[in-house]
Amino acid sequence: MGKRVSRMHILLLIAALIASSGSLSEAAAGPKASFEDNFDIMWSENHFTTSEDGQIWFLSLDKETGCGFQTKQRYRFGWFSMKLKLVGGDSAGVVTAYYMCTENGAGPERDELDFEFLGNRTGEPYLIQTNVYKNGTGGREMRHMLWFDPTEDFHTYSVLWNNHQIVFFVDKVPVRVYKNNGEANNFFPSEKPMYLFSSIWNADDWATRGGLEKTDWKKAPFVSSYKDFNVDACQWEDPYPACVSTTTKNWWDQYGAWHLSESQKLDYAWVQRNLVIYDYCKDTERYPTLPWECSLSPWD
Ligand SMILES: *[C@@H]1O[C@H](CO)[C@@H](O)[C@H](O)[C@H]1NC(C)=O
Ligand SMILES: *[C@@H]1O[C@H](CO)[C@@H](O)[C@H](O)[C@H]1NC(C)=O
Repeated sequence: MGKRVSRMHILLLIAALIASSGSLSEAAAGPKASFEDNFDIMWSENHFTTSEDGQIWFLSLDKETGCGFQTKQRYRFGWFSMKLKLVGGDSAGVVTAYYMCTENGAGPERDELDFEFLGNRTGEPYLIQTNVYKNGTGGREMRHMLWFDPTEDFHTYSVLWNNHQIVFFVDKVPVRVYKNNGEANNFFPSEKPMYLFSSIWNADDWATRGGLEKTDWKKAPFVSSYKDFNVDACQWEDPYPACVSTTTKNWWDQYGAWHLSESQKLDYAWVQRNLVIYDYCKDTERYPTLPWECSLSPWD
């Protein structure tokens, strides 16, 4: 794995150089944007703090409550990215979620794209769980191990969303590819604009080893850190018009973003071989009939 990682570092460096030379949308309001420019606190304002310069944000969870924030704007299609550093030490039972959703709540017709970070006992590995909801139906979980300790440093977690695919990235490495089939369907969220959210909460009824490991409240507060929010996306404005996917005006909507590049395919293959813990598409006990979207190839 050592060799592989250093190759990946070079790829990341190249990717970073490309990214920094490209133009970024104004929506993120530049590197010195304050939290309030882009976000609102969803609940428990007193569990939210920032660094002195306002550039790092902290969400904390204690026995009383967790905390969450959301973007003021909704977006339809684009690139969404943020750096997170997760709760360190004994974080069993604690879930940090970073997700996009069409609404502020768990409504029956919502679309949603999830990254969830499942904490663990000290020294045991975090897992990331991803999921996709369309019109209130999820159950499309994948779980991955990471190739680094996500509590030690900030790492970038991103979503690419266009009408052809949704790709979940960790440090520019595609870990999950979710394809559309180019027809009306009930699995690919594409019509409704989404907010971006993050929150921290107690999920010790299911998160760590299936709920066997309970949150140790003596270790509270549990704190997740955030920085460098970056959105290059179509900002939704009512009523409607602008965010159609056929303009191909933006890089995330152009041909190159409709499928993985050759180097992304190599990285993705490596992730598939080494880091996937669970894939609902392979869970024939749960889904005796393969869900439709599972037949779409991530390589196309
Ligand atoms: C979405 O789901 C609801 C049930 O929750 C159903 O009544 C509705 O027809 C669905 N809409 C579409 C577009 O499939
Ligand atoms: C936590 O650690 C245990 C033991 O290494 C592992 O089996 C499990 O997958 C890890 N993660 C979660 C979320 O349970």
